[in-house]
Amino acid sequence: MSDLIRLQKYLAAGGVASRRAAEKLIEAGKVKVNGKVVKKLGVKIDALHDIIEVDNSVITVPDKKQYYLLNKPKGYLTTVRDPFGRPTVMDLFPQELRKGLFPVGRLDLDTEGLLLVTNDGETAFRLTHPRFKIKKKYIARVKGIPREKDLQQFKKEILLEDGPTSPADAAIISTDKSNALLQITLHEGKKRQIKRMCKTLGYPVLSLKRTAIAFLKLHGLRPGGYRTLTPLEINKLATLLGLKV
Ligand code: URA
Repeated sequence: MSDLIRLQKYLAAGGVASRRAAEKLIEAGKVKVNGKVVKKLGVKIDALHDIIEVDNSVITVPDKKQYYLLNKPKGYLTTVRDPFGRPTVMDLFPQELRKGLFPVGRLDLDTEGLLLVTNDGETAFRLTHPRFKIKKKYIARVKGIPREKDLQQFKKEILLEDGPTSPADAAIISTDKSNALLQITLHEGKKRQIKRMCKTLGYPVLSLKRTAIAFLKLHGLRPGGYRTLTPLEINKLATLLGLKV
């Protein structure tokens, strides 16, 4: 795929100069496209493939930030590429959207639900680092009916092999004879955390779905479906994470 834009616009987006000043640089013969000086204004370049130089320095333009919410179905790995060729969450996006995108955090192969997919490393880091305490909500079906004292244990800590969990929350949504549906809220993301917490208390997880990441909700997305974040959501997320919009 190519991405044609005017040379002066590319230089401005690369932070070289304003568009007007970039035109002056072009006319002064200071700009090269694929090794050749270009003095004519209005030339379009392929931002993905052409090499642009100003005074012999290569100019790159950061990719526009992209944010997608995906409803991950079971059976897809939360990774960009699998060495064994198994389906990954990236297979749910058309090829032309995939460049530079990666999933934020991890949902197990058999976990479904909300996943943010982006090309923005800083947002991904802040969403997953325990220091930022971003709330993630899950619905878990567990074997057995948890006792009140076990539900309270989520609020304190549960000792796992890699250390104690930080305070979480768990409440029963409904029960039947032999199992219960729980809503669980975490502020951290250890590997297989919910499954290990529930198992430690004696209630193995039968199925697991993530329903929210901070204020972002799964609601309205079919399994395998995705949507872009709205500008309002992007602003809200940046503010929540202490990032400049
Ligand atoms: N906790 C788990 O055990 N698995 C997930 O996929 C997410 C949270």
